[in-house]
Amino acid sequence: MGTEDSAESRITELSERIRQHDLLYYRDDAPGITDADYDQLKQELLELEAAHPELVRPDSPTQTVGADPSTLFAPVQHRVPMMSLDNAFDRDELEAWADRARRRLATGDLGDLMCELKYDGLAVSLRYENGVLTQAATRGNGRVGEDITANILALEYKKKKSVPHRLPGGSPGVLEVRGEVYMPLDAFADLNKQQDEEEKPRYANPRNTAAGSLRQKDPSITATRGLSIWCYQIGEIQGGPTLETHNDTLEYLRSLNLPVNPKSKSVSTIDAAWKFIEQCEADRHNLPYEIDGAVIKIDRLDFQRELGATSRAPRWAIAYKLPPEERTTKLLDIHVSIGSKGKATPFAVLEPAFVGGSTVEMATLHNEDQVKAKDVRPGDTVVVRKAGDVIPEVLGPVLADRPDGLPVWEFPEVCPCPHQQPLARQEGDAAHYCRFPRCPEQLRGWIEHFAARNALDIEHLGEQRVRLFIDLGFISDIGDIYSLPYDRIRELEGFGELSVANLATAIEASKQQSLARLLVGLNIRHLGDTTCELLADAFGSLDRIMGASVEELAEVDGIGPIIAESVYEFFLSEANQEIIQKLPKELLEASSSDAEAEVEALPQTLEGMTIVVTGGVEGYTRDGVGAAIKARGGKAPGSVSSKTTALVVGENPGASKLEKAEKLGIPILDEAQFQRLIESGELP
Ligand code: IVH
Repeated sequence: MGTEDSAESRITELSERIRQHDLLYYRDDAPGITDADYDQLKQELLELEAAHPELVRPDSPTQTVGADPSTLFAPVQHRVPMMSLDNAFDRDELEAWADRARRRLATGDLGDLMCELKYDGLAVSLRYENGVLTQAATRGNGRVGEDITANILALEYKKKKSVPHRLPGGSPGVLEVRGEVYMPLDAFADLNKQQDEEEKPRYANPRNTAAGSLRQKDPSITATRGLSIWCYQIGEIQGGPTLETHNDTLEYLRSLNLPVNPKSKSVSTIDAAWKFIEQCEADRHNLPYEIDGAVIKIDRLDFQRELGATSRAPRWAIAYKLPPEERTTKLLDIHVSIGSKGKATPFAVLEPAFVGGSTVEMATLHNEDQVKAKDVRPGDTVVVRKAGDVIPEVLGPVLADRPDGLPVWEFPEVCPCPHQQPLARQEGDAAHYCRFPRCPEQLRGWIEHFAARNALDIEHLGEQRVRLFIDLGFISDIGDIYSLPYDRIRELEGFGELSVANLATAIEASKQQSLARLLVGLNIRHLGDTTCELLADAFGSLDRIMGASVEELAEVDGIGPIIAESVYEFFLSEANQEIIQKLPKELLEASSSDAEAEVEALPQTLEGMTIVVTGGVEGYTRDGVGAAIKARGGKAPGSVSSKTTALVVGENPGASKLEKAEKLGIPILDEAQFQRLIESGELP
């Protein structure tokens, strides 16, 4: 009795909530929850009703379709009701559907199955009379929809009508076709680009935007939204050909120039249908429109008639729903993470939610402005999206669920590390930074960066070991790498004699790296590999760089004032000076003398010349070509001007440099001619 009571009240509660969400979704185009959360409510209701069939009411959302139409548009009575589809979420449910259908069919056999994509848009009905489009309607509650004829007539995608206004000659007296109106992803991206330009909020997803766009009072707005349609069914037909299968239907619609999706596939077993579904899942993100599943249909129309329908869905078809890409969950808090250069990035700490094929507990919020624009606050219910391999994203709050008086989140004033140094945001910068060089939050990133392949290239000092050595207190800055306590490391689990020896050798070898690589390893803000090389070439030693003024730094070709300022500030910091003093003498000296030696050792064949390179030149890295030119006394700027002596054209050259050189009559050299020039200093 007790369980019956609680089942009844839960059924009432679920029904009410679902009905509320149906209104928001179908009538207002403003869903209150994600599809996946909705499906979950519906599933719970279905299961409860299955366990208590006596509690199923005729107006339960499991027995009805959509929502009553709004009063914005004139009502349209569907002569043949527009139904929904039952869902399957896994292979067992798909098999169970097939078993049920087999049992109902006299032959006990399903025959062929048509597999289609399940387009994520909204269902519409198009009525053609004597080949002319006379009426278009939304599904509404399945019996009565809304008249959207003017909007459908206005639809255009890529400057072409999306829906034919006329069918070719010989079409039936009455043809009522059904299909899904959707927003192609490029149209969606264009629309959001426009929103960005106008500084208006972005649209959340293509399906809701399609629905909102279609149900505009002003068709000229609908017209600009790039909506399109896939037709998949005939509702009513008078005077057409005799069609025997669903496949025939699709072919016939195609022959009338109606847009029919080319990906449909006829198969003869459930096994093959399952393969189609798996393929959909794999291809999902390679399509130019969104899908939320696949639809499997029994092909023979006489079998379809034999199976009939429940009050809301046909028995001859089943929708397989792909795992959700969007979910609502609780935003527990907003924390800030500190990157290796001190950049403070806010991120969402979420109640774990299964979305996009994995459990999501964190999502980046990028920066202060993004948090403000989205207006997400700890305590909010938020929509989280994860499409494919994309990093999870918080789309925004569900405002209806926001507790009263929830405070706005403020960017923290201090770094989360125990030193609690200030986080500051400079004008024109989107990010906050922690400027404290010994911030432990930055340390790991810095050490990893120092050991990376493009910097000091220390093999055997990977992410895990860095973490371990920091945790054990062996390393608290990059200088400590050169005084690791090997006797203690030897005692650690997982460190054999050989691996300790390998690590020590790699660290020893790094002492011979160049000045440019050392600069990369110092992790100075705004400095990249190329600018490090420019500085190394221009100054020749770390001492000289450390002694340079902002102006002297900025005089170097390719070093702008922001970089110069950043370098100057880095070396001004006492903490950084202390760290540098801990670096081994060999490293500091080897890098400087190496650089100088290189400059002096080579014959200055290119003195006075300005050589521009475009494309890849064999035997050099992109930066290396420039270095080779400069090492021989030449200049190697990034663009062609009247001062350019010659343009070297390698693999995949840029068109603009070539064009400009041709226009200015500058000699153009191939790789072999370049090689000769380097050696002899003579232009061909
Ligand atoms: S056939 C009797 N085929 O999914 C219903 N529907 O969740 C016949 N949908 O209402 C529908 N792609 O709006 C069919 N290939 C497809 C579909 C499709 C998307 C939509 C349609 C339907 C809803 C059910």
